[in-house]
Amino acid sequence: MADTNSLSNCRLAFIGCGVMAEAIIAGLLRQKLVGPEQIVASHPRQARREEMHVKYGVEMLESNREAVTETHPEGPDDSSVIVLAVKPQRLHGVLDELKGALVKEQLVVSIVAGAKIETISEQLLHASVVRAMPNTPAQIGEGVTAWTASSEVNQKQEDQVCAMLEALGKTVRVENERQVDMAAALSGTGPTYIFLVMEALIDAGVHMGFSRHVAQDLVQQTMLGSVLFARETHKHPAELRNMVTSPGGTSAEAIYQMEKGSLRTVLSKAVWAAYQKAEALGRKI
Ligand SMILES: NC(=O)c1ccc[n+]([C@@H]2O[C@H](COP(=O)([O-])OP(=O)(O)OC[C@H]3O[C@@H](n4cnc5c(N)ncnc54)[C@H](OP(=O)(O)O)[C@@H]3O)[C@@H](O)[C@H]2O)c1
Repeated sequence: MADTNSLSNCRLAFIGCGVMAEAIIAGLLRQKLVGPEQIVASHPRQARREEMHVKYGVEMLESNREAVTETHPEGPDDSSVIVLAVKPQRLHGVLDELKGALVKEQLVVSIVAGAKIETISEQLLHASVVRAMPNTPAQIGEGVTAWTASSEVNQKQEDQVCAMLEALGKTVRVENERQVDMAAALSGTGPTYIFLVMEALIDAGVHMGFSRHVAQDLVQQTMLGSVLFARETHKHPAELRNMVTSPGGTSAEAIYQMEKGSLRTVLSKAVWAAYQKAEALGRKI
């Protein structure tokens, strides 16, 4: 668990204020890790700037560069984190705009899918860069974020990154950027797999004759309960599955069909394809 005071003298600038930036800002404020006066965010659209200002009381600017310069540390105890939260296709232009605007003490945290630390570092002329991969349950504080840092990032900055990302849920420090791409495929894209399976099971319930809302309740609670059960018992999923698979029973019948339909192979191929896509995105930036 990170030191929750590590953000107390820190100012944060969010470059691009969409879904993910808002999730981080909301989490930080909800957990009182920072106050709204510590946050600046930039966004090209006036309506979005107004919306964020009214909702969270944070300062909203049109200029990305101004958001960075405005959060320059003023004293030796001050620190500053710049969060890059634009879409990958916008990153190049944003980095161009920010080139030379950062001071050495500032830390850059990029959540941009695929963008390499080296690319960001070279284009910004800045050495302290963290790369993080959150996922959408971050919006309710139940996400998981894999992250890694360049060697220039110091311990205090790592603590700040941990505190900031814990506002989104769990954090996992991974060894290298390849593993950030792997996390992009497994947990970053993960909710997509789960939602598709959820949808398919609900549809199967409707097919049998349940009303949609009953099917939805049954499926959602089954998924939630199964995850909590696995987490609390620390048992291997196969063991938990065997516990409910009686000879000649319903589970055995269902498993036979799932294996026949190559469910495991399909999931494995999906994750592998997402991993290759994450790597390919990185090569384009
Ligand atoms: N959502 C996820 O599950 C997830 C998970 C992991 C990582 N990520 C990464 O997080 C980043 C942000 O994703 P998101 O889902 O938050 O996307 P998003 O909602 O589209 O947020 C990006 C925001 O940046 C704004 N923007 C566009 N051009 C800009 C510019 N030049 N300067 C500043 N802001 C600009 C966009 O404005 P407009 O709306 O006007 O275009 C948008 O509001 C992406 O790189 C993505 O790869 C997302």
